[in-house]
Amino acid sequence: MAIFLDTGNIDEIKKYHEMGIIRGVTTNPTILSKEGITGGMHGVKERSIEIAKLISPLPLSVEVTTNDMDRMMEQALDFATWSDNINVKITIHGPEGEIENLRIVHELETKHDVRINVTAMMSAQQCFLAAMAGASYISIFGGRVNNMGYNVCSEISRLRRLLDSFDLESQIIVGSTREILNIVEWLDAGAHIVTVTPSLIQGMLVHPYSKETVQMFLEDGKKFDD
Ligand code: E4P
Repeated sequence: MAIFLDTGNIDEIKKYHEMGIIRGVTTNPTILSKEGITGGMHGVKERSIEIAKLISPLPLSVEVTTNDMDRMMEQALDFATWSDNINVKITIHGPEGEIENLRIVHELETKHDVRINVTAMMSAQQCFLAAMAGASYISIFGGRVNNMGYNVCSEISRLRRLLDSFDLESQIIVGSTREILNIVEWLDAGAHIVTVTPSLIQGMLVHPYSKETVQMFLEDGKKFDD
């Protein structure tokens, strides 16, 4: 699957989707609020449907905005009706460590056929439990893990080995990407997907020495102009 785009910006999604280099899009409430989405949940719905249509059949993650279990279930079931390619993001636990979230994840995946992306995880052990609960996607926040002082690569590799040996089908998404180096490094460590901001993709693509080389070709090419 490789690269997802971590943004709610339509122009950026369109640009990289047209190049064929992204395989999905992830959003969260913070990303959508920075994007200036207004109009409450109606605004979230409008933007999500717009993105989902644009990238269909590629997947789009939309995150619930509540940790109340009944409302979480209602939101997840509602989001899933917005478009076939929408999966629902649910955090691994609540703001005070409330652990009921995985019950909702399990129920949505097994009884309602809703694909879930369990998010805000910082360790292989959290991701393993989310995979056991049946989550289609398990998101570990690489940049935040690295900022805690240990290298997320070892968590990614350990997690991938566990998924493979227990025949678990969850796809590992590594998010919270901070440096261009992270993308290939994390895929190489065993991530199925790394989700990246548009500016990091731009940074991956453009190399100063490639620019200089292209300038040389174009300069010499002028000699053949009629
Ligand atoms: C992943 O799906 C998240 O949307 C995102 O990568 C979180 O990153 P942050 O640490 O920049 O908030």
